[in-house]
Amino acid sequence: MQKVSELYRGKAKTVFVTDDPSKLILEFRNDTSAFDGEKIEQLDRKGEVNNKFNHYIMQKLEQADIPTQVEELLNDNESLVKKLDMIPVECVIRNYAAGSLCRRLGVEEGSELNPPTFEFFLKNDALHDPMINESHCLSFGWATESQISEMKVLTFKVNQVLSQLFSKGGMLLVDFKLEFGVDAQGNIVLGDEFTPDGCRLWDKETKKKLDKDRFRQGLGSVVESYIEVANRIGLAL
Ligand SMILES: Nc1ncnc2c1ncn2[C@@H]1O[C@H](COP(=O)(O)OP(=O)(O)O)[C@@H](O)[C@H]1O
Ligand SMILES: [Mg+2]
Repeated sequence: MQKVSELYRGKAKTVFVTDDPSKLILEFRNDTSAFDGEKIEQLDRKGEVNNKFNHYIMQKLEQADIPTQVEELLNDNESLVKKLDMIPVECVIRNYAAGSLCRRLGVEEGSELNPPTFEFFLKNDALHDPMINESHCLSFGWATESQISEMKVLTFKVNQVLSQLFSKGGMLLVDFKLEFGVDAQGNIVLGDEFTPDGCRLWDKETKKKLDKDRFRQGLGSVVESYIEVANRIGLAL
């Protein structure tokens, strides 16, 4: 398997075409961005940590019968994945209130959401990833009715599996976002990444933030916290 050319350079990863048309290479870079790319920094080892973290989580999800892009961890910063036709929406589940939900609805940070909320956001930096609903997905052709229901079912299943995994490591999975795509057979498959860049994780007892909010809020020890999360769920980094 050979890297052929760069397909897309995103904010955190670079996507490469390979000599196998059904596979891509994701390179996880050290670039860390927040506020739609307004704040960008290079954090030492972040690419490696996120690459290995993502591979570990995707394997756990595969074991729970959730279809993912995962193929192979190639090296410190690169993974081989299934090439998907990405659906341009982000699926978000919140178990506790934080971030934009608190600003939008005036809820206190940390309030438990029972049942958890599910939200769609449009992947569009220029528009600041606006919140959208199912009707928008259908009217604008971003996803079909069956793709919407499949993504929701899979996102709730991911929530179950990962809430338990992080709970065993003494953490609360506060919220997370997923991106799905369609494979060559037309199936909905989990793509992109699951890392502390795209979720919120708090220590159960102290409520210490262990995710990208450390970067957003300038709290320091960002990559060190990601490594601590990995170690707590059984991945030595
Ligand atoms: N398995 C996949 N197949 C095709 N595209 C993917 C896959 N996984 C992720 N992508 C896309 O590759 C890009 C990953 O790079 P990233 O730095 O996260 O970009 P962005 O700045 O758009 O969030 C995203 O646009 C994502 O939708
Ligand atoms: Mg991204």
